[in-house]
Amino acid sequence: MEDKNKAWSGRFNEPVSQLVQRYTASVNFDKRLAEYDIQGSRAHAQMLAAQGIISAEDLAAIEQGLSEIYNEIKGGAFEWSITLEDVHLNIEKRLIAIVGDAGKRLHTARSRNDQVATDIRLFLRTSIDEIIPLIKAMQRALLDLAEKHTDTVMPGFTHLQVAQPVSLGHHLMAYFEMLKRDAERLTDCRKRVNKLPLGAAALAGTSYPIDRELVAQKLGFDGVCENSLDAVSDRDFAIEFCASAALIMTHLSRFSEELILWMSPSFSFIELTDRFCTGSSIMPQKKNPDVPELVRGKTGRINGHLIALLTLMKAQPLAYNKDNQEDKEPLFDTVDTLIDTLIIYTDMMSGVHVNHDAMRSATMKGFATATDLADYLTKKGLPFRDSHEVVAKAVQFAEKKGCDLSDLKLSNLQTFSKLIEDDIFSVLTLEGSMMSRNHIGGTSPTQVKAAIERAKESLA
Ligand code: ARG
Repeated sequence: MEDKNKAWSGRFNEPVSQLVQRYTASVNFDKRLAEYDIQGSRAHAQMLAAQGIISAEDLAAIEQGLSEIYNEIKGGAFEWSITLEDVHLNIEKRLIAIVGDAGKRLHTARSRNDQVATDIRLFLRTSIDEIIPLIKAMQRALLDLAEKHTDTVMPGFTHLQVAQPVSLGHHLMAYFEMLKRDAERLTDCRKRVNKLPLGAAALAGTSYPIDRELVAQKLGFDGVCENSLDAVSDRDFAIEFCASAALIMTHLSRFSEELILWMSPSFSFIELTDRFCTGSSIMPQKKNPDVPELVRGKTGRINGHLIALLTLMKAQPLAYNKDNQEDKEPLFDTVDTLIDTLIIYTDMMSGVHVNHDAMRSATMKGFATATDLADYLTKKGLPFRDSHEVVAKAVQFAEKKGCDLSDLKLSNLQTFSKLIEDDIFSVLTLEGSMMSRNHIGGTSPTQVKAAIERAKESLA
């Protein structure tokens, strides 16, 4: 009976149905963990030998067998079998086929429960180490674009209504800040990912004289998980990673939404180079911002994976439950989607062409310097609330005339307040408004340039 091949089939009297086999197997997706599984097995075997739990000959055979398996997998020659459930049992079975009894000794003082937790942590650590530099590359691309646009005026929005003039460079640097926190979050998450579960065995530890510190050191972990029940069961480190990933995607989805708006003919603030867009099969005039739209869409998928993992973990009793096998697909997809998104987004930054005139005239349309007029009056002694009211009336007047505040005659402006003198016009220009916000965190081009310098240092 084929089923008797299973590592655990000894006490079972009937085989599982094909459907149950397919339902419970994970090899189709967890084979992705193979290289980490082999890495973990090698370190475990070395420790078993160092502690005299297996012989030096057994270790040599195991190591040789594992390298053969590694090459088979890399070369595509390895035959994965769904009957053998998962990556761990597939590799173990092959090891036994290659090296015989030594292979049967590898699983001494170990369970698939601590084995799989170790594999995922190794996978995730590697992924984080790949993702952080990609975030930095995206930050660099933002810096490059911001540097070209420290003096470019655009409307700053609140409620998607023109609010105050801001520098495009300042706007872009807002995303730099978000990504900076995102990278910090992943660096922090890595500390908790990088702990060794091996040694926890099935749940309670093992009666063999193991040396967990040695295994941790061989695998580059910062330490060991201190409680065996916790080590095999919790997936909080993966949840934390997915939460950080969801935030990165959320940040990029905000930016995407803006790029989509900015590209629309009603805004025409930017153009995106053709390789990130597609046309319509029916409307010949269309150029659709597919990449930003998909980033926005894929954010939903990444948020979904976070919720999937939280729900998976919720109310699980200690210790390991098979529920946890479901952690892999959401985690893998999160890593893959995030990596692709960051690479494509970074590249896309170099394809953004800015239409200065459209940004400028949109800023002119929204009475963006109204606050500046109010501040001008307040600086001359009028209480701010009264200034606010004066300016509201002036705006109403300009609106009726169909012009901007800066287009009004001095005599017109003076009908709203006697405090207004001819120095008002420098205050009402877009550049004047922008330049006056000259403190750390403000939009004045001087400050934006300083922020860019600090940002460069933070990346160095
Ligand atoms: N494939 C399993 C997983 O991904 C490995 C652990 C299986 N442990 C068990 N007790 N059945 O979680």
